[in-house]
Amino acid sequence: MSIETDLVALAADVAREAGDLARGRRAEGVHLAATKSTLADIVTDADREVEALIRARLQAARPDDGFLGEESEADEGSSGITWVVDPIDGTVNYAYGIPSYAVSIAAVRGVAVVGEWEALAAAIYAPASGEMFTAARGSGAWLGAQRLAVTTETPAGALLATGFGYDPTTHDGDLATVRRVMTIARDLRRAGAASLDLAFVAAGRLDGYFERGLKPWDHAAGALLVAEAGGRVSIDGAGSSLPMLVAGGTAVHDRIRELLEDEK
Ligand code: IPD
Repeated sequence: MSIETDLVALAADVAREAGDLARGRRAEGVHLAATKSTLADIVTDADREVEALIRARLQAARPDDGFLGEESEADEGSSGITWVVDPIDGTVNYAYGIPSYAVSIAAVRGVAVVGEWEALAAAIYAPASGEMFTAARGSGAWLGAQRLAVTTETPAGALLATGFGYDPTTHDGDLATVRRVMTIARDLRRAGAASLDLAFVAAGRLDGYFERGLKPWDHAAGALLVAEAGGRVSIDGAGSSLPMLVAGGTAVHDRIRELLEDEK
């Protein structure tokens, strides 16, 4: 077995256990632990408990690996491999009882900062639907046993998705981008979990996705899924606080990038 195969099997096992814990806690009722940078930027007790479970499982299986999670201190590790984890992506959906949330786990080689890594394996598990999306570098992207492929849709026929970060000072720019992108596409969704948006692009349910200001844990797993499903993913401003990620089939990806260039 290759290292990627080992890593994706571990990621999927841990994502399933973590997602089942999250779903169980949701059924018991959500306790909002704190707001973070803004009112929309929340953390629940479940986010912290689920991240602690994921961290413990990965640490037990691969003690030398690093860890970068949304809710706890980063650890560089010594193996050169880092786990990039969002325990509950779509926390606001989760807190309000909307089923679009997911556990997102990626194993990357390199420094766990946007743009400075190579993703090796990914698992995104949506507990409400029971869907498990996985990808291993060089071995494709999968929904269970079904191999995934991005669409070859034209921009004019494209169903796109986006998201809005938590920093309100970016919202005018986000809305201006949305207005421009909507002139060239069929329609747009804002479903509230970046990892699932990317998994849906890989699965051909969406034709493209863009968002400014994503964090590594929001996109590390999903970006590998899209790439392994034959799509393109680019991040402009990698390393800055507001990188712009675009993902999709080639024609859709390139057209969105072109529009964004014109905005500059
Ligand atoms: C958020 C979601 C949302 C995206 C935000 C992310 P979180 O992640 O992925 O769709 O628009 O930028 O921060 O906070 O729910 O883990």
